[in-house]
Amino acid sequence: MSTPFIADNKLFKSINCGDLRAKNIGEDVVLAGWVNKYRNLGALHFITLRDKKGLIQLGFENFKSDISILKDLSLESVIQVKGKVCKRPDGAENKEMITGEVEVQVEELKLLSKAEEVPFLPHGKIEANEDLRLKYRYLDLRSNKLQSLLSLRSKTAMKIRNVLYQDDFTEVETPILYKTTPEGARDYIVPSRVHPGKVYALPQSPQTLKQLLMIAGTDKYFQICKCFRDEDLRADRQPEFSQIDIEVSFSTAGYMRKLASKILQEVFELESDFEIPVMSYSDAMKDYGSDKPDIRFDLKHIDVTSYFGKSGFKTFDDISNSSGLIKAMFISNEQGEFARKKIDAFAEVVRPYGGKGVAWFKVNDGELTGGISKFISEELKEKFNLGNGLWVFCADSKESVTHACANALRLHLGKTCNLIKPDVYKFLWINDWPLFEYDEDDKRLYAAHHPFTSPKIEDFDKFLSGDLEVAKSIRAEAYDVVCNGYELAGGSVRIYDTKMQSQMFKYLDFSDEEAEHLFGFFIEALKYGTPPHAGMAFGFDRLIMLLGKTENIRDVIAFPKTSSATDLMSSSPSVALQEQLRELKIQISK
Ligand code: AMO
Repeated sequence: MSTPFIADNKLFKSINCGDLRAKNIGEDVVLAGWVNKYRNLGALHFITLRDKKGLIQLGFENFKSDISILKDLSLESVIQVKGKVCKRPDGAENKEMITGEVEVQVEELKLLSKAEEVPFLPHGKIEANEDLRLKYRYLDLRSNKLQSLLSLRSKTAMKIRNVLYQDDFTEVETPILYKTTPEGARDYIVPSRVHPGKVYALPQSPQTLKQLLMIAGTDKYFQICKCFRDEDLRADRQPEFSQIDIEVSFSTAGYMRKLASKILQEVFELESDFEIPVMSYSDAMKDYGSDKPDIRFDLKHIDVTSYFGKSGFKTFDDISNSSGLIKAMFISNEQGEFARKKIDAFAEVVRPYGGKGVAWFKVNDGELTGGISKFISEELKEKFNLGNGLWVFCADSKESVTHACANALRLHLGKTCNLIKPDVYKFLWINDWPLFEYDEDDKRLYAAHHPFTSPKIEDFDKFLSGDLEVAKSIRAEAYDVVCNGYELAGGSVRIYDTKMQSQMFKYLDFSDEEAEHLFGFFIEALKYGTPPHAGMAFGFDRLIMLLGKTENIRDVIAFPKTSSATDLMSSSPSVALQEQLRELKIQISK
C-alpha cells in the first residue's frame, strides 16, 4: 500500500468534492472519496468521485502514471487524487451537477481501500429491496438522500437546543437502566447479573425521572433521549426512538403551547407570531373521526345519525335507534367522480377498522341515484342538498368504529381525489382529552395519556369521588401536537399531590402492592414538596420525517429496526450465549 497524500489542513483532502465551483479553477487540490462511476471512452477516461458533499468529475489527461490502473478500481473503492481544478470544455458542462462547470484533471491517484463487488450501488435508483438495504445499512447510508436526512436531523437538534437554552432550560441525562414507566406499551427488560431474578426496564420515556427532576428543583428540563417500547410497529413507529423531552415547574398548558409554537416556528421556519391552532379532542372526533386529523384538506364528517331511524334502510335505522353513530361525507363532482367499481372498493378501506361496508348515493341536479338513494325521503333530500356529487356513509353501533372507518375513508378520498395540499404543514394543538379510556372487553379504565396526567381543575371533585362511572367523563389537562395527520408531540399538566396520584393508580386497577412496588418511590417523592409542573415530548424521528418529507421512519434513523424489531445488519436480537444465561441464572423454557 502506498503512502497517502496529506493536505496542508492535515486531512486526506484539501477540499470536498461537492464544494468545487468555478471560483476554484486553477487551484491544486487533493480529493478523497468513493468511486461513483468509471467511464472508459478509449482515449478519454472519467471517474465521478463522491464524498459527503457531492460528486466531481475527474479527468486523466495529465495523469502521470499508467492509465491501466483505473481498470482495477472497482466501484465504491476509496481513492485519493491530486490534481488541478479546470473549467470543463465548452459544451461539456453538466447542469445536473452542482460541480458541473468544472472537473479535476488528475496527476496522481492512490487506491486507499479497494471495494469488493457491493450488493447494491448506493446512488441513483437503488436496485435492492429494503431488507437487503437494511442488512448493508452502511452502504445505503452512503446515498445522498439518507446522508441529507442525517444532516437535517443533526441541524434540527441544534435549532431546538438553541431555543431551549435561550429559555434557560437545563439538559439532563437520565438513566437507561431503570424501572417501568407506563406509557401503554410493554417494557424491554434487562436481567441483572448481580441480582439474579431481578430486572431493569428500559424507559418507555423518562416520565417519572423528569417529574423527579422538578421535585429536585431543576425548574426547566429538557433532553434529547432514547425511549424503548415493545409494541406493534407501524410506518411511524420504532421500538427504540428519540424524544425531545421537556418538563417545566410552575407551568401551565398555555406555557407549553407557547413553547411548542416557538420550537415549531424555528424548526419549520414559520411566521414569527406563529401559534399552534387549538382544537378540542371532541371537535377533532366529531369533524374528522380522529385525534390526529390531517387538516391539509377539508372534507369534514357530517353526523347524520338523526336523519335515520324510520328511513326503511334497516341497518342505518337500527344503528340510529340503538345510539350508534352514522357519519357522512360529500365529494362534489368537481373534487372527484367515482365509477361503481371504485365505490365498491371503499369497503376494503374501512374493513381493517371494523367497517362492514360503505353506503352511498349520487346526486345529479336534485336527482338521487344508486346505493341507498331509494331510502332517502323527499323530506331528507333537502338535507343532502350540497350540489352534484357523491355521498358516502359509515355507520356502526359502536361510535369508535364509525369514527375510525370515516377517518380512513376521508384519508383515502383525500389521497385519491388529490385534495391534500402538498408542501404545507398544518399544525393542531388537540386539548381537552378524556382522562381515561374505558375498555369494554376488560371492563376497566386505562389512562388516555399516562397515569401522571392531571384531571382538569373543574373535574377534581369528580376525580376524587373515586366513582368509576363518573370517572369515564373526566377530562384531562392533556394536549397533543398534531401535524398533517401525525401525532408529533404529547404532554400534560401533572398530578402533584400524593392523594390524587394514589387515586389515579386505584382507577387504573393497580393494587396497593403493585402501586407500591412499581411507583412507591415516586408517590413518596411527591410528599416532600412538589411544585406544580407540566411537560411534553416531541417524537424527534417523526419531526424529521415531516421536515424531510418521508413517510418511512427508518429513513430518519441511522440504524433502524425492521417492522419485526430486528436489526438485520447486526442480526440482533441474537441468541444469548450459554455463559451469559448461566451468569444471569436464566433458563430458557422449551
Ligand atoms: P407519548 O407517549 O405521547 O408521551 O410520546 C411522545 C411522542 O413520542 C413519539 N412516539 C414515537 N415515535 C416513534 N416510535 C414510537 N414507537 C413512538 N411512540 C411515541 C410521538 C409521540 O407524540 N412521557 C410522555 C410525554 C409527556 O407527557 O411529557 C410521552 O412519552 O411523536
